[in-house]
Amino acid sequence: MQGNSEELLVEMRKIVKTFPGTKALDGVTLKLRKGEIHALIGENGAGKSTLMNILTGQFSMDSGEIIMEGEPVRFSSPREAMAKNIVLVPQELNLIPEASIAENIFLGNEVVKNNLIDWNKTKEEAKKLLGLLDVQVDVSMPVKELSAAYQQLVSIARALTYEPKVLILDEPTAVLTNQETKSLFASMQRLKKNGTAMVFITHHLDEVIEQADRITIMKDGCLIKEVLVSEITKEEMINQMAGKKVEITSRVKREISDEVFFEAKNLTRSGEFENVSFQIRKGEILCVAGLVGAGRTEIFKCVFGITEKEAGGTTWIEGKEVQIKSPMDAILCGMGYVSEERRHDGIAPDMSVMENMMLPSYDKLKKNGLIDYQKAVAITDQYIASFKIKTASRETLIKNLSGGNQQKVIVARWMAKGIKMLILDEPTRGIDVNAKGEIHQLIRELADQGVAVVVISSEMEEVIALADRIMVVHNGKISGYITEVEKITQEDVLKVAFQ
Ligand SMILES: Nc1ncnc2c1ncn2[C@@H]1O[C@H](COP(=O)(O)OP(=O)(O)OP(=O)(O)O)[C@@H](O)[C@H]1O
Ligand SMILES: [Mg+2]
Repeated sequence: MQGNSEELLVEMRKIVKTFPGTKALDGVTLKLRKGEIHALIGENGAGKSTLMNILTGQFSMDSGEIIMEGEPVRFSSPREAMAKNIVLVPQELNLIPEASIAENIFLGNEVVKNNLIDWNKTKEEAKKLLGLLDVQVDVSMPVKELSAAYQQLVSIARALTYEPKVLILDEPTAVLTNQETKSLFASMQRLKKNGTAMVFITHHLDEVIEQADRITIMKDGCLIKEVLVSEITKEEMINQMAGKKVEITSRVKREISDEVFFEAKNLTRSGEFENVSFQIRKGEILCVAGLVGAGRTEIFKCVFGITEKEAGGTTWIEGKEVQIKSPMDAILCGMGYVSEERRHDGIAPDMSVMENMMLPSYDKLKKNGLIDYQKAVAITDQYIASFKIKTASRETLIKNLSGGNQQKVIVARWMAKGIKMLILDEPTRGIDVNAKGEIHQLIRELADQGVAVVVISSEMEEVIALADRIMVVHNGKISGYITEVEKITQEDVLKVAFQ
């Protein structure tokens, strides 16, 4: 910790915020000191993002006060907060896909010379800022061509243009690979030396232990406590976030049938993957491991018919050859798919929780040509309860749920549909430890009912907890399988990947 770390920079006092049907914040206090990394932790829906949206003027508060450098402040827009060097990198990406990387980084904060935007300088500065995050790319490229991870780093570079005194990172590492996470942490440590206060929101408690100086724990809109990292253990954090003792999810050995449900042979899409062949059995949980960018997402997008396979590839379901040319075909074959990109291809933001959950199930709900509303209500309520989805009601628009709770709705959607095969891409990204355990349990129950489950995951702990078998993908090819999951380590996966 720095010598000046006791110097108070910002204090949020007794903040209260109510949304229709939800008290999101109930008298929360947060103290940020110069040159500290302050972790803000709590379960999905605890109020972390809301608190930060209030600090940065995105939302107004019902009551409470914010003191910055001894003066009361109140921001009515993010722009006003940025003028005071308080900058937020939001949980969900919000870049302009068509604009270039450099344009995105300096959007609203343009480099101006003689009343004109100085493009050369813009590009040069953009390159420099990304360099600090170890990102080397052509900054005139449109942002949409970047992976989610690089887009996240572009958002962070954009925040840095405001020379933040307070930098808020809302789940910055959720989409990053290990290497990128390391680069981000190195930047955070540099900023800390320069006196920047950082709020670091994450569900990865190991990262908290590694990087943070202090922690504020929230639960259900309330402050539980503020504590130095050195004075708390991971178990204590988990228990305090949950308000009870939590059993950490561990491996369960399962019996699986020999019946193959799905088989693929020689699937190829040039530039993405090549000659991929595999089988998945009924009731099996197949985890797909590998480095980000290995082609895991691309393979299963193709299996689900989002992209088309090239000639020569064949797929079978229960021994019968099938042509899956669109997601609709895949759904008719009994498949479901949970994308890693919730915001873009997962939710219908302006529809309710119930509509989002029942979307693919409408055919099942038809009675005399009409939707059986009572049945939809019953199923929705059952999942809201069993998944512990935090929402004011089933009619709430899904966009108003916390990130983690939106994800639960999408997983529930496919469970409600009654499918035979489910593909989940990073299913617990952004999900708190407690809910993660619950989702793992639900995935196992689904498999126990005979559903073939594919889980693409970059989290080793998740793979070990869930997998009956691990398929390792490297450079667009299957580089091997691991069947003895009990004994496996991170190194084993890397060995298979690179052999
Ligand atoms: N615009 C809104 N309208 C209505 N309710 C909202 C709105 N934004 C947040 N909420 C509610 O406020 C509560 C706190 O949500 P918030 O997004 O702050 O949680 P979080 O701690 O960031 O969770 P996560 O870890 O899942 O991101 C939730 O119950 C959420 O549904
Ligand atoms: Mg949040």
